[in-house]
Amino acid sequence: VLSEIEVTNPASGSLWGLGQIISLEHPELRCQRIDYDSKSEQTQTLTAVVAEIQSQSLENQISIRNGVRYVARLAQEHKQRDQQNQPLQLKLSKYGVIDNLNWQPMERHCPSGNEVEIQVATVGLNFRDVLNALGLLQEYYRENLGITSTEQLTFGFECAGTIVAVGEEVSQWQIGDEVIATMIHDGFSSFVTVKAEYLLPKPQQMSFSEAATLSTTFLTANYGLKQLAKIQPGERILIHAAAGGVGQAAVQIAQEVGAEIYATASPGKWEFLKSLGIKHIYNSRTLNWAEEMMAQTEGKGVDVVLNSLNGEYIDKSIEVLATGGRFVEIGKIGIWSTEQVTEKRADVKYFPFDLGEVVEQQPNIITQLSAELTQQWDKEQLKALPHKVFSSTEVSSAFRYMQQAQHIGKVVVSMPEVKNHQISIQPEASYLITGGLGSLGLEVAQWMVKQGAKQIVLTGRRAANETAQEVIAELEAVGTSISVLLGDISVEKDVAEIFQKMQTLAPLKGVIHAAGVLDDGLVQKMSTQQLTKVMAPKVAGTWNLHQMTKELELDFFVCFSSMASILGNASQGNYAAANGFMDAVAKYRRGLGLPGLSINWGAWASGGMAVRLETQLQNRLESSGIRTIQPEQGMEALESLLSGSQGQVGVFPVNWSQFLTVPGMQKMPLLSELISTQPSVPQKSGLLEKLEAIAISERMELFTTHIRSMIAQTLGLKDGQKLERRQPLFDLGLDSLMAVELKNRLELTLQTSLSSTLLFDYPTLEALVEHLADVIPLEFSVTDNSDKSNNMSRFEEMSEDQMFGLLAQTLESIGGKKIDK
Ligand SMILES: NC(=O)c1ccc[n+]([C@@H]2O[C@H](COP(=O)([O-])OP(=O)(O)OC[C@H]3O[C@@H](n4cnc5c(N)ncnc54)[C@H](OP(=O)(O)O)[C@@H]3O)[C@@H](O)[C@H]2O)c1
Repeated sequence: VLSEIEVTNPASGSLWGLGQIISLEHPELRCQRIDYDSKSEQTQTLTAVVAEIQSQSLENQISIRNGVRYVARLAQEHKQRDQQNQPLQLKLSKYGVIDNLNWQPMERHCPSGNEVEIQVATVGLNFRDVLNALGLLQEYYRENLGITSTEQLTFGFECAGTIVAVGEEVSQWQIGDEVIATMIHDGFSSFVTVKAEYLLPKPQQMSFSEAATLSTTFLTANYGLKQLAKIQPGERILIHAAAGGVGQAAVQIAQEVGAEIYATASPGKWEFLKSLGIKHIYNSRTLNWAEEMMAQTEGKGVDVVLNSLNGEYIDKSIEVLATGGRFVEIGKIGIWSTEQVTEKRADVKYFPFDLGEVVEQQPNIITQLSAELTQQWDKEQLKALPHKVFSSTEVSSAFRYMQQAQHIGKVVVSMPEVKNHQISIQPEASYLITGGLGSLGLEVAQWMVKQGAKQIVLTGRRAANETAQEVIAELEAVGTSISVLLGDISVEKDVAEIFQKMQTLAPLKGVIHAAGVLDDGLVQKMSTQQLTKVMAPKVAGTWNLHQMTKELELDFFVCFSSMASILGNASQGNYAAANGFMDAVAKYRRGLGLPGLSINWGAWASGGMAVRLETQLQNRLESSGIRTIQPEQGMEALESLLSGSQGQVGVFPVNWSQFLTVPGMQKMPLLSELISTQPSVPQKSGLLEKLEAIAISERMELFTTHIRSMIAQTLGLKDGQKLERRQPLFDLGLDSLMAVELKNRLELTLQTSLSSTLLFDYPTLEALVEHLADVIPLEFSVTDNSDKSNNMSRFEEMSEDQMFGLLAQTLESIGGKKIDK
């Protein structure tokens, strides 16, 4: 539940799978699966379990850990997975609201000339990013950078990461170097391509998060205080917003130089500043500090001001400067011109600067500044700034945190790792595919060969059939060695022998466990033999494979499980239980630090088990929106999942809006997250409205047609017209589950509740239609109480008595006398 390490008893996985089927086949039993914490106190667990049983909640997959209740939810994975391997960039859909930030796919740019490409690990957030998102720099961006819309806008002025490519003119950096990039505009990206001169080496002892706090802050503070103001030991310096990023770097530089610090900050951050040994701290939220500071310096004022505030703060800051003082301005909005400053204080030296503009004028400045800073970082004379890290999924919170000026030091965002490497099939390894002579086994073998596999072992109990032989011949023709080793995977001795024979091959690097059989039947009627037959290859088989391979260094161990163990399939209790075990073993293995993946496949189009399913089950799947997996799609999914980090993933193409119209599905808690992300489920058919709108004489025909098609859908019959009015539905394959399903469908359409024994009481189309016509609040004309399209067959089927009854009824309804036979 909380981690895969917790899967200590994979056998319970079978119950998890079986329970799903019981829920479907016997909704009246309200089958719940509760996975409790074996480490918790028994009474506590018991109380929780009893509460669960007594509750009216629809939740049926519950885990309890340390008294906390967890429920199972299916989440759509493909977007995340795509995103995991898809480079992303932070974009803004519309100016003004931080929530409009979102990650969008991006294109990487191959570095040329003097450029390098960096895989970004962390990004340092700057206040300018926040202003950008709020749309407050639109004018500046339009005039200076030609950026006129949010589509052109990117975020992130600094980042830390690893070089993944270098241009042909780059000699000072190599692939693999860990660096800090500054002067960029798109740091919030998985990859950035940047000029080599804008890089600083990441101090070795620092993490990427720490490294993301360094560049803008220290370069600005160093340039402003050392290069421009030339701050000297013993001088007084006023650092505004001293708890912020540049403020904190300035504090370190001033302390290192031996200057006396006067700091402003909001009161909540005073304690922190005191902890750095700063004695003179003032409230940055009022203007009283100027007087206090003058009093404390006995009217002399400060020698240097590092300013980032505006409005009246500028006035006051100039006022507190000692004669001949230096005013370093790093603000951007509402700052003073040199003339304004000179007019107020001709003795003051004014240094407004924007680091970006400085770099444009002096391209080597970063290299110069970084030489000194790097030494100081390495010697720990200067340290990483205090910072708070947000993950990329919390990027809006990071912006908001800075917007509210809650931060001390820096706000850092860590980027998700984009997987650069895929698990590859190696020519110098061997691979085992159990059930390898079956349909999917052969598909996988062909895929592996395309990927470069040279040695593949296919197992099964019986020798290869003609199809398998043909495929094997084709694979051998391209130079792959295919070993067919026969044996029952559920029998330990057979498996041992197979592994013994594999000793002569290259080291085993991957296992695909695709052996399996079907023998469907309702749980209530399932024989022990039927149960063990289906369980054997997946339970004993998986366990045998785990035991035989647990000491090997495998790249993958994949179980071919089925969607039956997640969503269930009526009449597949044994199969769901078998697959549920595999799902649990995959996680159990991961808990042991071994590779493990269980893929809950939907039905494949290419053949194999799905094709051998009962036609009715196939049709039912289809009518509920479940589509088949095309082999290329399946192999693509397999390939991507092999490199993924999940222990269990369902792969089944579904038309969710169709699927969710299947009665009961909308209520299934497991699907609730999916439902909320799906476009609204289509409205009900509006049958009642349609019936109401037509002439009474036409209603019965429409009503019968509708009920007939609902029965056909439930039974998985392609042609509903073949459904005879008096044929018992149970003879056509209606089982108790379908009866419940059909009842639910009818309830939904007719907007009325129906008896749970409906289909047992009215087991033919005719009986059902007659009963339902009575139940719904609409009038039907008796003369029309027939299915005109089938009039002939209906009369042919009728007994003399029935014909007489109908005639009597009809005459009566048109005003004739009651007649007796
Ligand atoms: N095809 C689908 O649509 C689909 C959907 C979901 C999940 N799956 C899963 O994918 C796997 C492969 O399915 P498939 O369609 O390829 O089935 P398949 O064509 O029937 O192949 C399964 C193979 O497993 C072998 N096998 C069965 N029991 C065995 C045992 N005890 N020891 C050794 N081999 C055994 C069978 O050969 P012998 O009888 O000769 O032993 C058969 O060749 C199955 O585990 C299935 O549950 C398939």
